[in-house]
Amino acid sequence: MNDKIFAPLIPRDPDTGWIILPRDTEDRRNLFFDPEVMSHPAKMNLNMQQAIIDHVAEPMQTLLDPFGGTGTLMIASMQDMNVVLIDIEEKYHELQKKNKANLVQEIPEMEYRVTLLLGDNRFLLPIPCHHIITSPPYAGAMDIRKVREKREDAPDEWLVKMDQQMMEYSKNPRNISKLNTFMYNQNMERVYKLMMQSVLPGGTITINIKDRIEKGKRVYLSKWIERVFNRGGWATSEWYKWKVPGSGFTNIARSQGKLVVDDEDVIIFRKA
Ligand SMILES: C[S@@+](CC[C@H](N)C(=O)[O-])C[C@H]1O[C@@H](n2cnc3c(N)ncnc32)[C@H](O)[C@@H]1O
Repeated sequence: MNDKIFAPLIPRDPDTGWIILPRDTEDRRNLFFDPEVMSHPAKMNLNMQQAIIDHVAEPMQTLLDPFGGTGTLMIASMQDMNVVLIDIEEKYHELQKKNKANLVQEIPEMEYRVTLLLGDNRFLLPIPCHHIITSPPYAGAMDIRKVREKREDAPDEWLVKMDQQMMEYSKNPRNISKLNTFMYNQNMERVYKLMMQSVLPGGTITINIKDRIEKGKRVYLSKWIERVFNRGGWATSEWYKWKVPGSGFTNIARSQGKLVVDDEDVIIFRKA
């Protein structure tokens, strides 16, 4: 158990206790991230990423994100930590390389602090590390075969643009988010087991996940993840919730009386 208070300087919603995160766009812009990262929908909130790093990790430790995406975890390298990122998509890997190049230009020794691996984490793991911090892909999320030209359920072109971007960034047929729910669960359980093997004793695995709505019902992805870790012999160490700022899409869905998910889960598991 960790005695530190999680995200001590970030306010909580007085009714729900959920963490209210400040917007991260400006901070990201002021760091080493390539402008291409800004428009990307699937990145972890920078302030949440920082709060988790502060909470679980110490300088000189090695942190791994096996679903590295745009490379948000790279910020840990500026706090004297080693960072290893894996992604299966060439486009994400290239984006991570651009971010790293910007970082190295400012601080040359970062060259040896950040390791970027292109490949399928089911083949690359286990990799020994102190902590894993990750936001996993979602079943079927990238299984987009055709870009929709118009979306009745969206206020503007935003979702169409997102479809286009997702297609462009998810070309690899082995991308886990192209799998249907059944195959996804089988494969993710395998990845979670490989993650459990990677972490050294006393280390942690932190998962940031948002439940989803399917056919009008909330699907508790967070609870499924907890069951997988508990089955693997890992007890849940801490569980936090943070409030997701509403998008145009969720606001419209809510005004139509549809169920929307307003919170994301951060679940921390610690290796005995
Ligand atoms: C939700 S995103 C991660 C976002 C990341 N935390 C960030 O802040 O940008 C999930 C990522 O998992 C990658 N992915 C999917 N299947 C994979 C696999 N088998 N091995 C490695 N990466 C994979 C996708 O390409 C995508 O970039």
